[in-house]
Amino acid sequence: MKAFRIISLITILLLSANKSESQTLGILAAMDQEINLVTEMIEKPVYTEFGGRVFVSGKINGTDCVAAFSKWGKVAASITATLLIEHFNVDDLVFIGTAGAISTELNIGDIVVARSLVQHDMDARPLMQRFEIPLTGITYVECDKRLSDLAVKSIRPLIQKDFKDIVGEKTWQEFNYLKPTLKEGTIASGDQFINSDEKRKELINLLPDVLCVEMEGAAVAQVCYEFKVPFTVIRIISDNANHDARIDFNHFIDKVANIYSMEIIKSFISNY
Ligand code: ADE
Repeated sequence: MKAFRIISLITILLLSANKSESQTLGILAAMDQEINLVTEMIEKPVYTEFGGRVFVSGKINGTDCVAAFSKWGKVAASITATLLIEHFNVDDLVFIGTAGAISTELNIGDIVVARSLVQHDMDARPLMQRFEIPLTGITYVECDKRLSDLAVKSIRPLIQKDFKDIVGEKTWQEFNYLKPTLKEGTIASGDQFINSDEKRKELINLLPDVLCVEMEGAAVAQVCYEFKVPFTVIRIISDNANHDARIDFNHFIDKVANIYSMEIIKSFISNY
């Protein structure tokens, strides 16, 4: 009986010690322009360089954060995510960036919160089904429900706002009077910038549930799945993954994506 009481006491002490420990949020962004405005919010930033990546640690609004530019493509983003997890011991990871619309229900400026991610260029047939991640038995990696719900909760009030006030009147007009909507669902990633209707239609036929396409999210998802780190991915639609994609993409990144990312992360952290 006495031993049982001692064990219970130790358990309570361990649990409460764990609770008071603050969580560290890892923030990855797919573009330099996006991460720059996020890192500007970090108080007393500490810069650490590893493998050609700069990690910025410090607090945003009282929350411990480590932010980094993921770099482009699945391998680059996986390296950055692994370093965030293994070297900086982040407890949760949020990835923010832009994406090309695959669903015809999305427009430039809309926001997608991932619930699951798939690698559209993964193909180890005939050894296994197309898109299946070798040696895992899974095709889709599910996001952490708590973090995706938190992203949705943080973005909802933002999209109610007048975007003229967020991006400035000139940019707002230039981008067809931005009035973002929010969608939740599947995001596809691959080492390709999709910029043709043909490729876009091929993706719709193969993966009809996919909302948008980008080049890192599903790889970061696999890293987090293997390391058991909760994660979510947020994407802002910069183009329609068609022949205009390159022009729309560059224009959007410079004028809108960085401001959006900063506002979304700020709101996310205030709810974290
Ligand atoms: N990121 C933003 N737009 C994209 C596109 N069209 N293809 C791949 N990644 C993207």
